[in-house]
Amino acid sequence: MDAVGRLAQTAGYAWKGKFVATQYHQRQAAGTQWDPQQYLKFADHRLRPALELLDRVPLESPRLIYDLGCGGGQITRLIAERWPSAQVVGVDNSPQMLAQAAEEPSRIEWVEADVHNWSPAVPPDLIYSNATLQWLDGHATLFPRLGEALAAGGCLAVQMPLSWGMPSHRLMRDTLADGGVAGQPLGTEVLRQSMARKWVADAGDYYDLLAGRTSSLDIWETEYMQVLVGDDPIFEWVKGTGLRPILNSLEGQERETFVAEYTRRLRVAYPAKSDGRTLYPFRRLFLVATV
Ligand SMILES: C[S@@+](CC[C@H](N)C(=O)[O-])C[C@H]1O[C@@H](n2cnc3c(N)ncnc32)[C@H](O)[C@@H]1O
Repeated sequence: MDAVGRLAQTAGYAWKGKFVATQYHQRQAAGTQWDPQQYLKFADHRLRPALELLDRVPLESPRLIYDLGCGGGQITRLIAERWPSAQVVGVDNSPQMLAQAAEEPSRIEWVEADVHNWSPAVPPDLIYSNATLQWLDGHATLFPRLGEALAAGGCLAVQMPLSWGMPSHRLMRDTLADGGVAGQPLGTEVLRQSMARKWVADAGDYYDLLAGRTSSLDIWETEYMQVLVGDDPIFEWVKGTGLRPILNSLEGQERETFVAEYTRRLRVAYPAKSDGRTLYPFRRLFLVATV
């Protein structure tokens, strides 16, 4: 059994008082190529917030569900297991991720689409999106648009990392700005500007966007004290997500310089504990909006 399954089973995640003890399955700019295996290296830590979000969805029997940015489909499968009679659609713009999702036969429909342009043909009862919408800009129009796409009584459930201000992500920008020889910048101005965009707004901004359009709005933040093992584990973590645009853009010597300097700075910011493990505090924003 894979890490996702082990965690879900041993943690005994309960939805509405019922144990979920079923089988769990293993399972673009230049910067958006995804590597499903790298992303899954920390599956336990990445799964937990997805389940905590799902746990807060108050729907009894939704008929149509979309999982936006479904990735390799691990969470989509759990969604389908929670609501066995619902029609479940996983949407992603990465062919690599969708290929992995489709490896295991299921009743889930996998659709390649960019959420920027996506709209459902029939209003769904649930739009769920875990660790994806931070990759999209234009939240001031995106979130109201998703809310308006829902059927009456439907839910928008979203989790996004609040990583922009964390040392691991600040150091990416700093290293691009002055990590070259004699403090020279690395990469192009376009890359540095794209990395400078603050991808998730403050919780209060999402309240302002959604409160007037919803019958209930549940917003919260959680900081996970993640214990990581191995050498340079934070570099390995961000390599699967936030560092991809940089690694995919830099080449040759410039890439090597960036990796060496960024890794050095990470070791200073996140020193290993006496047992060799590394603590990686990670904050996330959740919202469940019911219309
Ligand atoms: C960090 S992964 C999360 C995957 C999954 N939701 C999970 O929690 O395991 C982000 C996913 O969002 C997808 N993604 C990013 N931007 C997207 C967009 N504009 N449209 C559709 N999918 C997108 C990526 O391809 C990737 O699979």
